[in-house]
Amino acid sequence: MSQAESHPQDGPATAEGWKLLRKVLREQRTGLLQGVVIGLMWSAGKVSIPQLFKLGVDRGIEQSGSLLFWAGAITCAGIIAGFFAGWRRWIGFRESRWTESSLRERLFTHLQGLHIGYHDMTQTGQLMSRASSDLGQIQGFVVMIPITISNVAMVVAVMVILLSSQPMLAIIALAPLPFINLAARRFSHDIHPAVLAIQAEQAELANVVEESVSGIRVVKGFGAEATQMRKLEKEANDIRHVSLGAAKIRSKFLPGIDLLPSIGLIAVLGIGGHRVINGQMSVGDLVAFNTYLTMLIWPLRNIGMTVAFGQRAAAALMRVNEVLSTEPAIADPPKPVALPSRASSAFTGAVTFSNVSFGYNNGQEVLSNLDLVIQPGESVAIVGATGSGKSTLARLLLRFYDTTSGDITLDGIDIRQLRLSELRRAVAVVFEDTLLFNDTVAANIAFSDPNALQDRIESAARLAGAHEFILELPEGYNTVLGERGYSLSGGQRQRIAIARAIVADPRVLVLDDATSAVDPAKENEIREAMTTVMRGRTTLVIAHRPATIALASKVALLDEGRIVAFGEHAHLLATNAKYGEVLAAQEKNIAEQTNQLVGE
Ligand SMILES: Nc1ncnc2c1ncn2[C@@H]1O[C@H](COP(=O)(O)OP(=O)(O)O)[C@@H](O)[C@H]1O
Ligand SMILES: [Mg+2]
Repeated sequence: MSQAESHPQDGPATAEGWKLLRKVLREQRTGLLQGVVIGLMWSAGKVSIPQLFKLGVDRGIEQSGSLLFWAGAITCAGIIAGFFAGWRRWIGFRESRWTESSLRERLFTHLQGLHIGYHDMTQTGQLMSRASSDLGQIQGFVVMIPITISNVAMVVAVMVILLSSQPMLAIIALAPLPFINLAARRFSHDIHPAVLAIQAEQAELANVVEESVSGIRVVKGFGAEATQMRKLEKEANDIRHVSLGAAKIRSKFLPGIDLLPSIGLIAVLGIGGHRVINGQMSVGDLVAFNTYLTMLIWPLRNIGMTVAFGQRAAAALMRVNEVLSTEPAIADPPKPVALPSRASSAFTGAVTFSNVSFGYNNGQEVLSNLDLVIQPGESVAIVGATGSGKSTLARLLLRFYDTTSGDITLDGIDIRQLRLSELRRAVAVVFEDTLLFNDTVAANIAFSDPNALQDRIESAARLAGAHEFILELPEGYNTVLGERGYSLSGGQRQRIAIARAIVADPRVLVLDDATSAVDPAKENEIREAMTTVMRGRTTLVIAHRPATIALASKVALLDEGRIVAFGEHAHLLATNAKYGEVLAAQEKNIAEQTNQLVGE
């Protein structure tokens, strides 16, 4: 990966990023102001200590006063400074975590609202790295805000004290300080691209890990562990390489930044010591001066660090903003039309595709001038070769994508005129592979309606033919499924998905290859479940096996982007050669898949 790719361009994009940060921080004005006020108290406490020390040395020692009194005063000032330091830090973290979670919520809501086409183009790994690493950078910057402001106040106060008490000495002692700042800035300028490169490499590594873990069955199934391992090694090496680059920059700058302040101290001892001997300066003055000088070093470095943090935060904000400013290509219409209610006579569940053309981002047309009418309550099987666009039909009906041209209607209403939430409640799809969430069986079934009562969940499971096996699970309906939970077989997952669709109680049901993950022996049971669900409901069945196709009253043959034949299964089989061919090819496919399943 070249660094140029990930190097942020300072310009309008960064300005947009800062604008976003200002917007978020504005909501936290009060909290941040609190942090600054408390930080200033800390500065006051810190700055007073050398003054008290000086008074202690000059009056307590030389003029035989009460040393104990000054020691007590210094202790009090120290405790106050410590107290405010803790408080300042706490507020800094409280506010920065708030910024982080507020941005995280915005990002998550926005990502969920974006159209599927966006998710097609963007890798999950990148999005994850955006979400966690970028928000971490921003948090790291916000936490510095109260600390840095009080540091600046302290630096100014100390400089004023030094310059007004010992102008000559101060000028000499402070002379190296601008160089510290210069070096710190050069440092942060040089380290910035290196840090970005590390981030980018880490994102790539995360991507490889994610791919290998979520695809572990494929990886193992093809004995490709070594290939994935090599990929991982390469990414890990890349990280090491860019990290070493960053370490080189650090080791070039940091020793100088450490050494420069000591030069000032030497000057103080040389010149200041003479002044004390000549009686132009008290010992207390010298000690206080020296203490003040050392007090400047950490805040100055800290301010330099904040600059570096700020640059990283700017880059992170830019990327976050890039996501946030992506408009969803598919959104609710300004004036949505409502679907006819269930009580009304217009409620039918009729679906029409008229003259529909569509292609994905690569521009290749998948559907061209397709026409299909599904009568209310009718069930239609869509049959076509793999890749002919069957699933695409379902995606278009849900408005995951918009057609390039042509219209799709539901109950006579163009689906683009419907609110997305209403459309997607009205159309339920059982996809080829069922995603189970890391939650209980009951919650997985009631996904469309988390308030569904146990009765409804159970009767849906019964209809889907899932009730029996659910009762046999370790904790029945309360068994936790998903990645870190109990694993179900393909057929069981599919029945959960069907139960999920029954709870949703849609006007239109799409069964997309609902039996593909199931071996033929089990398919019978699911077929029964499907018959129950389909009764009286407009249904599109995307299927390969004749027995499943037979569940539907009509068959539509999809070929070269359009419906080339429509009718009853037996009729098509007798009259359409293409139909016979497609079915035969799929039988062969299924046989091979079954062999694989058995082999597994
Ligand atoms: N998200 C996508 N981006 C680009 N092309 C896609 C996408 N999904 C599917 N395709 C392509 O569209 C065509 C139809 O796919 P699909 O509708 O899934 O076929 P089927 O379900 O009939 O097997 C295929 O050529 C496929 O490669
Ligand atoms: Mg498909």
